[in-house]
Amino acid sequence: MAEVNLEKIYASFLLRLENIKDVSELSVVEKEYLGKGSVLSEERSKLSSLNNEDKKRYGSLLKKFSDDVINKLEQFKTDFQHAFYIEKEKSENPDLSIDWHSKEGSRKHILTNVMEEVVDIFASIGYTVAYGPEAETSWNNFDALNTPEWHPARYESDTLYLDKDLSQLLRTQTSTVQVRHMQENEPPVYIVAPGRVYRSDQLDATHSPVFHQIEGLAVDDGITFSDLKGTLEHFVKEFFGTSVKTKFIPHFFPFTEPSAEVLVSWKDGEWLEILGCGMVDPNVFKNVNYPTTTQGFAFGVGVERLAMLRYGIDHIKNFYENDVRFLDQF
Ligand code: DAH
Repeated sequence: MAEVNLEKIYASFLLRLENIKDVSELSVVEKEYLGKGSVLSEERSKLSSLNNEDKKRYGSLLKKFSDDVINKLEQFKTDFQHAFYIEKEKSENPDLSIDWHSKEGSRKHILTNVMEEVVDIFASIGYTVAYGPEAETSWNNFDALNTPEWHPARYESDTLYLDKDLSQLLRTQTSTVQVRHMQENEPPVYIVAPGRVYRSDQLDATHSPVFHQIEGLAVDDGITFSDLKGTLEHFVKEFFGTSVKTKFIPHFFPFTEPSAEVLVSWKDGEWLEILGCGMVDPNVFKNVNYPTTTQGFAFGVGVERLAMLRYGIDHIKNFYENDVRFLDQF
């Protein structure tokens, strides 16, 4: 039997590919070189008339030929489609501020970075991270946290409820994670809980209906207000720098007693509020079935507020608009 020159046929196949104008032509070429009536299928049908040795040798040459053709077709298809989409993108006048082909890859959102940084500061002094759901019970969000029925935060104008009898809601604070964690764990507790919270607020420069908080809770034998002060002063120095001073002023939160607001020294002698804190109210311990003699402190900090202060960002909407010119700065 006269064997055909497969190299020559492969060369003609490559030549044929070069002249292809549309991806649909590929299936025609594929049929021509691999399908019924192709040189390959004719040659394959002749294999049975060969002796074993020739059958093996020529059979494997034919196999190699068909593998080469298949691989080349696949590769060609991928390249062709890629080139097609690049052309299409160019002609459709895409948004040039989006660099789809950036070699740099992606980066984390500034709020994620700030949250991770705060968590790292506390992790380095022994805190672990705890999470809770965004859809919560009113009990975890308010009752367990010693918030009276009449408290304004419970109004439907302030809180986004999920049902008519107001028993389910979108959490308004990450303090809910305190409750969940203490119900599941015995003291000592040292946790930080980052996450998203919701309020029925209109968007303005410093308010958004969705924002982020980080909650902290420390419960251990003999914990005092001095421990709270020392811990938060350490945090402020780590986050804002060692020259920044802190001031604690009395405040009211239902779940802490005494409660305080922490202010930091800013430019031009200004003091700015950055977080709320206090000694956990014994009623909260009672609600999670801890002994009422337990001692602990808690704090809650707004992530957007931290980022706005540190980077001088003047409107909270910047975080959510996904304008890459803003996001790329961080
Ligand atoms: N949950 C409070 C809020 O959203 C912040 C807060 C204040 C949390 C004092 C605390 C705390 O744990 O002790 O405004």
